[in-house]
Amino acid sequence: MLLNKRIIVGVCGGIASYKAIELVSGLQQAGALVDVIMTDHAQEFIRPLTFATMSHRPVYHNLWEPSGQAAELHIALAEQTELVAIVPATANTLAKLAYGIADNMLTAVALATRAPLLLAPAMYKGMYEHPATQANLSLLRERGASIIEPQVGRLASGAIGVGRLPELSVLMGAINLVLGREGDLAGRRVVVTAGGTQEPIDPVRYVGNRSSGKMGYALATVARDRGAHVTLISGPVALEVPYGIELCKVETAIQMRDAVDSVITDADVLVMSAAVADFRPITPASQKIKKNETRGSGEQGNFSLYLTRNPDILGQLADADRESGVKRSRRLIRVGFAAETHDVIAHAQAKMAAKRLDLLIANDVSQPDSGFGTDTNKAYLFHANGRMEDLPVMPKIDLAAAIWDRIVSLLL
Ligand code: CTP
Repeated sequence: MLLNKRIIVGVCGGIASYKAIELVSGLQQAGALVDVIMTDHAQEFIRPLTFATMSHRPVYHNLWEPSGQAAELHIALAEQTELVAIVPATANTLAKLAYGIADNMLTAVALATRAPLLLAPAMYKGMYEHPATQANLSLLRERGASIIEPQVGRLASGAIGVGRLPELSVLMGAINLVLGREGDLAGRRVVVTAGGTQEPIDPVRYVGNRSSGKMGYALATVARDRGAHVTLISGPVALEVPYGIELCKVETAIQMRDAVDSVITDADVLVMSAAVADFRPITPASQKIKKNETRGSGEQGNFSLYLTRNPDILGQLADADRESGVKRSRRLIRVGFAAETHDVIAHAQAKMAAKRLDLLIANDVSQPDSGFGTDTNKAYLFHANGRMEDLPVMPKIDLAAAIWDRIVSLLL
């Protein structure tokens, strides 16, 4: 999403300014054209050469240098950029921005541009919490600036409090989100489920599956980057929550069904990429089951677990259509996944029909490049009109983009 995007990274003089180096490097690696503008105070902490080496482009700081072009440099930069991200934004620069002061290259560009402004305040907690800084931030927010909230943690002074610059993934996520606001999913509400469900046996054990949640998290991230409001309903996974996404954590299939039911009423799209457990223990034990206290147990003993069917979340939506006589709910685009180990195409086609889906993504999870936990996937896409697409192996993030392309065409 960042390929060839023109982004200005404004760097102010705060101790967190060294973290902007990582950000510029990350943006450059993602294909963005990054113009760094440093304040004089930023140069007390870092040399411009460091940023120039990372961005592969000149670094700007002097407002008074003749540009030799028709437009003065700050005007040219302001007009060309698609986003101004100030990382870190100090209390001093926030105050200047709030009052429209343009006394250096960065504040002059920020005043001249009509591109979105993204601010990542980072400073000592006393400065951040000061009513003057808070009032300036409110004013800037009201005028449309996006603010990345600083985190609570250990500050450079040694004090614990609010004021830390968030991690790189958060900064990158926020930049993607702001740049994607006008994307082809702008104004759409999408619900994505991810990960596997865990069905309790007793307070310490559960019946689960191998789903890592990577495909669902990739789908949620790509939808965010294309402008959607994303609700991610996730089973327990070991993945970082993407920035700017509404997360609803669940454990069991019934919790997932309830969460889906409560958010789909005003959604445009439901993508069920979660691996929902089809069965759950009938009655989970309220205390830990001891191996010598169960019937039929003992050294050679067996232990039986009685399972009952879980609700089929997509299946229930199809049943509701059938009961109400609706051919297929056109308002809510429904997308399902089918993880198969054999007869992939036949099973997928049967699921597509039974669950009345608009799109189904099937993959053979017995393949090494397509299974649970991998970063790549090999998928077949089944369309409601019977068309099937056989996609090559690709990273899950690229497959997510391909899936949203198909969904966008259904939304038109
Ligand atoms: N699904 C669901 N509720 C369930 C089980 C599955 O909504 N209780 C959804 C999955 O999220 C997926 C699709 O249905 O989008 C197909 O899931 P899959 O497990 O492949 O199919 P099942 O219908 O469970 O059939 P089987 O396990 O027999 O293959």
